[in-house]
Amino acid sequence: MSHEIAHYDDVRSWTGLWIGRQVPGWHAGWQGSEVLPAPLLRKTFRLDAPVASACVRICGLGYHELYINGKKVGTEVLSPVVTQYEQRVAYVDHDVAEYLQVGENVLGVMLGNGWYNCHTPTVWEFHYASWRDYPKLLLQLDVTLGDGSNLRVVSDSSWKFADSAITFDALRNGEHYDARLELPGWAATGFDDSAWQQTVVVSPPGGVLDRQIAPPCRVVETLEPVSSWSVGPGVRVFDLGQNITGWAHIAVTGSEGSRLTLRYGERLAEDRRVDQKHIGVYIKGGEPQTDRYILKESASAQSWEPRFTYHGFQYVQVEGPDEVLDTLMLQGRVVQTDFSRIGSFESSDPQLNRLHHAAVWSYRGNFVGIPTDCPHREKNGWTADTHLAAEFGLLHFDAGTAYQQWLLALADAQRLSGQLPAIIPTSGWGFNGYSGPAWDSAFLLIPWYIYLYTGDRTAIERHYEPMKRYVDYCARMASGHIVEFGLGDWNHPDRERMAPVALTTTAYYYVDAVLLARFAGLLGRDDDAMAYKSLAEEIHVAFNRAFYRGNGVYADGQQTAQACALYQGLVDPAEKETVVHRLVESVEATGVRPEIGILGIKYVTRALAENGQMELAYKLVTQPEYPGWMHWIAQGATTLWEDWAGKDSRNHPSFCDLGAWMIHHLAGIAPDPDRPGFRHALIQPHAVAGLDSARATHQTPHGVIRCGWERRDGEVHLEVELPPAVTATLRSPDGTSMELAPGTHHSKI
Ligand code: BGC
Repeated sequence: MSHEIAHYDDVRSWTGLWIGRQVPGWHAGWQGSEVLPAPLLRKTFRLDAPVASACVRICGLGYHELYINGKKVGTEVLSPVVTQYEQRVAYVDHDVAEYLQVGENVLGVMLGNGWYNCHTPTVWEFHYASWRDYPKLLLQLDVTLGDGSNLRVVSDSSWKFADSAITFDALRNGEHYDARLELPGWAATGFDDSAWQQTVVVSPPGGVLDRQIAPPCRVVETLEPVSSWSVGPGVRVFDLGQNITGWAHIAVTGSEGSRLTLRYGERLAEDRRVDQKHIGVYIKGGEPQTDRYILKESASAQSWEPRFTYHGFQYVQVEGPDEVLDTLMLQGRVVQTDFSRIGSFESSDPQLNRLHHAAVWSYRGNFVGIPTDCPHREKNGWTADTHLAAEFGLLHFDAGTAYQQWLLALADAQRLSGQLPAIIPTSGWGFNGYSGPAWDSAFLLIPWYIYLYTGDRTAIERHYEPMKRYVDYCARMASGHIVEFGLGDWNHPDRERMAPVALTTTAYYYVDAVLLARFAGLLGRDDDAMAYKSLAEEIHVAFNRAFYRGNGVYADGQQTAQACALYQGLVDPAEKETVVHRLVESVEATGVRPEIGILGIKYVTRALAENGQMELAYKLVTQPEYPGWMHWIAQGATTLWEDWAGKDSRNHPSFCDLGAWMIHHLAGIAPDPDRPGFRHALIQPHAVAGLDSARATHQTPHGVIRCGWERRDGEVHLEVELPPAVTATLRSPDGTSMELAPGTHHSKI
């Protein structure tokens, strides 16, 4: 698949029309408009000669599945990726020559609501989205026959439709399937569709048509339950042993009309039933994360899994007649954007490895088309959660194009004033109150991280002007270069001790100005480069005037305040040592426990590591008490939690950066900000007390870097392997450094 972005010309090259079902009533966008079953769309056509090549270009909203002659095309699920539909819609291309035949052929498309038609109310008001409508399809099939002739089949009102067996589908609620309503062979030849209705031409979703650049979502793994138990008649709970994102696949035998209900969750109540209380809080209509299945008549086992919804869960509670439950085989389908794994970390400490494993699963489970905050309660593309987890993502997964896709939506959602919303996509919710530099900086940080890790500067080029609009917007919101809008160190264990919002926010404003100056320099916009450099300098001065109390203390000396100033590069070099000293004191004052929220975690672990305090940073990360990450692991966490106490979501990516910190500072592979793109790496291992070995790998665009150390006979042995085109600087904990050429290096540290 080509990764280039289609232009407006491309829209004109579509000759098909948007089609959908005849809808009773007259407007889908009203809350309370009728909820209809997922439609099946069907078109037959003839081919009179063998096929030489054939391509389907399809956009089926919200989600679609394409079938040709009865076979599903491709392996993707939940396609296409969600966008700001009134600005942009994503289409996908499929090479379909192998599905076609001489004679009669059938194109079949099943459509789901997805993000396009969120018909159940939520606090984020997607049910009021201006784009909202019943599912619709735009398709074009181009065939070249062996005799050289061409044929095009497009979506138009000659297509027919019927209701599928999916009687209800809602992204955040679940899917209901009545297997008795199945129409076997509906997408194959020889099926009698005379009772089907004609489709009608419907209005387009509004946005420009753009080829999807993100990799598709797929089922990437199937897990067997580790245990199951009964909680009274007709109720059985299955435990997958891992908190995942996806859905259940079931196989059952039983009498026609028997009903099964599947409730998904990540926690158990005291009676060992699935507890969904914390998952359903923002969903104002219908059940959260619940699928329903009605059995058809069948002598053998019947199997099913949902198509147009997904859930976050470790447990599935299945309710139904015991004689059906006795036959039930359930598996967990793991669903995510299918980018390849390119990084790993392992150490001699099993608990630390578990924490890393939890970060990997939280990251995977929070990238289903777009980066999200949690896969169950919200599924929202919160901007801070996204930038906080992005370095982890780019170290472990080939996630660059998936981020590029999301950035398009972020740019599409920007207001002309430059203001950004806090969730992407948005129905219009989340502009005032939630968004602010600590969240919005995703718009500059993610292009920077993509460049830093992969050398690809497309996002910097593409979004330069909108990014500039954002920084200019902040400048207008600032008073004396201090900005104070938006959220601060979210999920702090003690709100009273949180660093001032103005401090963390102004620091992000500073970073944005620094990045913008740098981007301007890269793009040869010298005037901008100078202007934003001097803006950054002015913010630097204002920040210190507002928050530096002297004697090494920022604000009230909170861990986040101290570390933010250090990590974001706001400390005067002459004061640095004292500021680090005060940071160490503030960490020790809490008994080496994190007194930080989701912003502070990145600053504190990194500011300590970068300033000769790696032993303390390691203690902070591995100490077992509340508040602390190992406290989660000790309670069996298999994904990262949202808050220290585990009250809310138990699958959040906002603390994922810990896993990047492990690679950067324990095993020791990091990108070099002075030479982005990993042609040159920083190797900075730390053999901390209590750890006997750590190793990591990272597949750069130029080959795999491996780095690991191990304690043997009282000495620490380091092995570094650099691919042919990559050099590195080895930074030893004692402050010395050494240049490394491509190849394998052994040394003692
Ligand atoms: C989300 C967070 C997000 C926050 C901001 C929460 O509901 O889950 O991860 O960043 O809201 O308000």
